[in-house]
Amino acid sequence: MTGTPVALVPVLQLSDVSHVYQSQRRRTTVLKQIDLDFERGTFYTVLGPSGSGKTTLLSLASGLDSPTKGTIHFDGQELSKLGLGRYRNKHAATVFQQYNLLTYMTALQNVTTAMEITGARPATGRRKAHALEILAKVGLDPDTAHRNVLRLSGGQQQRVAIARALACDVDILFADEPTGNLDEDTADGIIGIFQQLAHEQNKCVIVVTHSQTLAARSDRTLTLRKGRVTVGGS
Ligand SMILES: Nc1ncnc2c1ncn2[C@@H]1O[C@H](COP(=O)(O)OP(=O)(O)OP(=O)(O)O)[C@@H](O)[C@H]1O
Ligand SMILES: [Mg+2]
Repeated sequence: MTGTPVALVPVLQLSDVSHVYQSQRRRTTVLKQIDLDFERGTFYTVLGPSGSGKTTLLSLASGLDSPTKGTIHFDGQELSKLGLGRYRNKHAATVFQQYNLLTYMTALQNVTTAMEITGARPATGRRKAHALEILAKVGLDPDTAHRNVLRLSGGQQQRVAIARALACDVDILFADEPTGNLDEDTADGIIGIFQQLAHEQNKCVIVVTHSQTLAARSDRTLTLRKGRVTVGGS
């Protein structure tokens, strides 16, 4: 057969995206005409000074908020048409900067609840066993897994937030400063998990960070400054 080869559609595409926060007293333009393509199998880091719009970019790209201007496509389909709720439930998982754990639950329940809500089905079919495996992968033993999250240290809570996102079988993983509270060795292990997700499971991983070490181990770095983004290699 002849013909033009079909170009691979980026898993996530931001086109001419601008975002403005409007309050009674002031108008803050955070993002200006951003054009970005994200591919599967790639681990991205997003850098930039505090207040440069990294969390805002993640909120828009993960479907928590809609851009003031411009469009975002997932697998070629516009997010607003796909439905933000459906996108967040089936295709995107986020590790929030403030964790957003359910504080009346144990670490394990936080992970299994996310699996139930998103309908994630582990190959073994046993959610609890799978959740414990993921918690172990981020360095939390069964004793810790069964404790209420308020009885965990900041770094342990951060790892529960990571485990919760990992447990949802999605196409894109977003993480906002996911190693900010972790010691060097633990952070190193988490970076390894992100690399594995991208390179062995063909996921798109997008991580906001201030850590140059983390950025150096990603495939592509994006830097936000004054509302604009610059793209670098690794
Ligand atoms: N809901 C909001 N309403 C008004 N302004 C906001 C809102 N959220 C963020 N901002 C402003 O938008 C700008 C970008 O904020 P954002 O949280 O995206 O920055 P950031 O790069 O993630 O910073 P940090 O590294 O400190 O987490 C900041 O000036 C912030 O005060
Ligand atoms: Mg932020």
